[in-house]
Amino acid sequence: MADFPHTLAAMPTTRRPGCPFDPPEELIEARARSPISRFPFPDGHQGWLVTGYDLTRAILADPRFSSRRELMKHHPIIDFGDIEVPPAPPGEFLLMDEPQHSRYRKPLVGKFTVRRMRLLTERVEQITAEHLDAMEQAGPTADLVTAFAKPIPAVVICELLGVPYEDRAFFQENVDKFLGGEATDEEVMAAYLATQRYLAELVAAKRADPTDDVLSDLLDSDLTDEELQGMALILLSAGFDTTANMLALGTFALLQNPDQLAALRDDPALTDQAVEELLRYLSVAKQFFRVALEDVELAGQTIEAGTMVILSLNTANRDPERFPDPHALDLRRRDGGHLAFSHGVHQCLGQQLARVEMRVAFPALFDRFPTLRLAVPAEEVPLRPEVADIYGVKSLPVTWDAATIP
Ligand code: HEM
Repeated sequence: MADFPHTLAAMPTTRRPGCPFDPPEELIEARARSPISRFPFPDGHQGWLVTGYDLTRAILADPRFSSRRELMKHHPIIDFGDIEVPPAPPGEFLLMDEPQHSRYRKPLVGKFTVRRMRLLTERVEQITAEHLDAMEQAGPTADLVTAFAKPIPAVVICELLGVPYEDRAFFQENVDKFLGGEATDEEVMAAYLATQRYLAELVAAKRADPTDDVLSDLLDSDLTDEELQGMALILLSAGFDTTANMLALGTFALLQNPDQLAALRDDPALTDQAVEELLRYLSVAKQFFRVALEDVELAGQTIEAGTMVILSLNTANRDPERFPDPHALDLRRRDGGHLAFSHGVHQCLGQQLARVEMRVAFPALFDRFPTLRLAVPAEEVPLRPEVADIYGVKSLPVTWDAATIP
């Protein structure tokens, strides 16, 4: 092919107006040309961008590609120059390879099984109902992000980890700052350090007085306090923002697709499938990075050792070769196998929890407010910038018809 490999000149920083749910146009075009493109990072590093479904999945499962933080020296939008990136702190296993990664993931796997998470369903229902009650009382307008989408996963993950109730607001604020893509560099660093300090205190408190939660359960292992602190940080940061953005952006997407919302309302049995389709369609955890540990031949290219690869999960989840009519939100779709939770050894540890939360929260919201609608024109809903790690809406103003008292 004459133009193979295609080169993407720069990482797009905006989405097409009126298409808040679709990956940026340039990424969709890149995928249409080839599943892999050359990508010159702003600092001059010649990397790769992978947008095809099969290739993304293959790389995610390939141990020749590393997740180690110290190898990720280049940023797709910002030129940081020649910087030294330190390895991930102990316990922060998302950015580690084997065998370190397994040391931390293994003791957690049993705590996040389908069975364990199903047992949590009742508690998630209670938490959801409490937030819907508060929203109804304060309404009939609300910001769905602050009233519903953020606090529900926040309460759930805090309860799992044994973070006391009174510290929740502190967490939400700090995690929001270091992941939301809107704070300044100084604010991000301050929020990260404040969270780390808090977690150190929390681990010490659990040692002194263990309670019934995931963190206390791990005290019997050979993990050090510093490692436990890192693991808690990963769980908190991965569990808060992702699910919150799926709930808010998912509600926005359903309100913009009334036929799909009606299908979900008419047939509650569709819920599980609907959640999978929303995960595929929205792919809020939109991209991850890997670094080739050796020269790897893939798709007719040599990915040289030390090269950074951007895996565009949201574009891969819109690959027409894998998902027919990929840009349609179709809750009855049965294709399965989306990459919204990634694939391979780093595949989302909390996916069953996220599923329980979404399977409970979406139907409960639309049951409680049958007339739920946007309170502003759709174009005015503020979206997170592309530079944010997790995509979503900053706020979602909604309204509904208040029940008339007979
Ligand atoms: C990893 C997405 C919810 C905990 C990941 C990865 C993705 C992801 C794409 C893999 C990153 C990679 O391959 O490098 C999501 C989405 C969620 C969600 C879309 C919500 C809809 C949660 C929740 C928890 C959680 C609720 C927590 C309790 C984790 C952890 C990892 C992870 C601990 C690291 C796994 C590892 O490196 O072995 N998530 N996640 N996630 N997620 Fe989630």
